[in-house]
Amino acid sequence: MTARVCIIGSINMDLVVRTPRLPAPGETLMGGPFARFPGGKGANQAVAASRAGASVAMIGAVGDDEHGVAMRKTLADNAVDIVRVGTHVNTATGVALITVDDAGENTIVVAPGANAAVSPAAVEEAANAIGDADVLLAQLEVPLESVAKAASIARAAKTRVMLNAAPARMLPRELLSLLDVLIVNRGEAALTAGRSESDSADSLARSLQELGVPEIVITLGGAGALHAGSRIRRIPAFPVETVDTVGAGDAFAGAFAAAVASNMPTETALRFAAAAGALATTKHGAIPSLPTRDAIMQLLQ
Ligand code: RIB
Repeated sequence: MTARVCIIGSINMDLVVRTPRLPAPGETLMGGPFARFPGGKGANQAVAASRAGASVAMIGAVGDDEHGVAMRKTLADNAVDIVRVGTHVNTATGVALITVDDAGENTIVVAPGANAAVSPAAVEEAANAIGDADVLLAQLEVPLESVAKAASIARAAKTRVMLNAAPARMLPRELLSLLDVLIVNRGEAALTAGRSESDSADSLARSLQELGVPEIVITLGGAGALHAGSRIRRIPAFPVETVDTVGAGDAFAGAFAAAVASNMPTETALRFAAAAGALATTKHGAIPSLPTRDAIMQLLQ
């Protein structure tokens, strides 16, 4: 049976400039050429899960502009079911302003546009897709009350709930109590747990578990990832030539959701996701960099 993943999340057009280094506050920096890539954490994770082999339905929104048309086409071309992606009139599609430096690091500012219109009512209308899925995967670029609504529908339907808590913010206990898996990077882990980023990843993961989430995944960039369930596992990084880290966390989350939805054992699913995340750093752009299942399997061998 096909693994089914439902994604609720953002859809953005990424406007990207390469810079020799990330700009300081108040500084004007001359960059390299400008590029436009399809992105948004929700859309990235939807395409990542689809390319990783899952059947994917997305809940989201675009505006009635050129970016919205392009994003709907990108999702559909990647076999993502966009029946529950609304098009809002007189509204701009979400846009992300991104700088990527010579080391592949980035800064991102998002103008949410239509993403802010993903309402709890729209989520209720999509309840069937959530209930039919093996895994619901959400992030935090659409309204929190809509993420919470999706999580509670999923919990009632026995669909596993994963949250990639990015961009980081304090989360209500009621939402945390609905999660099966929380996926964060170190900075997001610290903010969500109310701790310092310099604390060890192990202790950050344990603090997050104490907030009521059974499984925590902390992605650690070049240091791999850590999984805390009944015990702590470390997943080593795959050595690759990094050119652009935008979308790497989304590649990890989408591939992990697809793997878990297909009943892959946790250890194998984590390695599968880590390979997807590594491959995403070897190409430019968010969606263009997301690997196929074949590419992931090849790196794993
Ligand atoms: O995680 C990367 C994504 O964050 C980008 O594609 C951008 O759109 C923002 O949502």
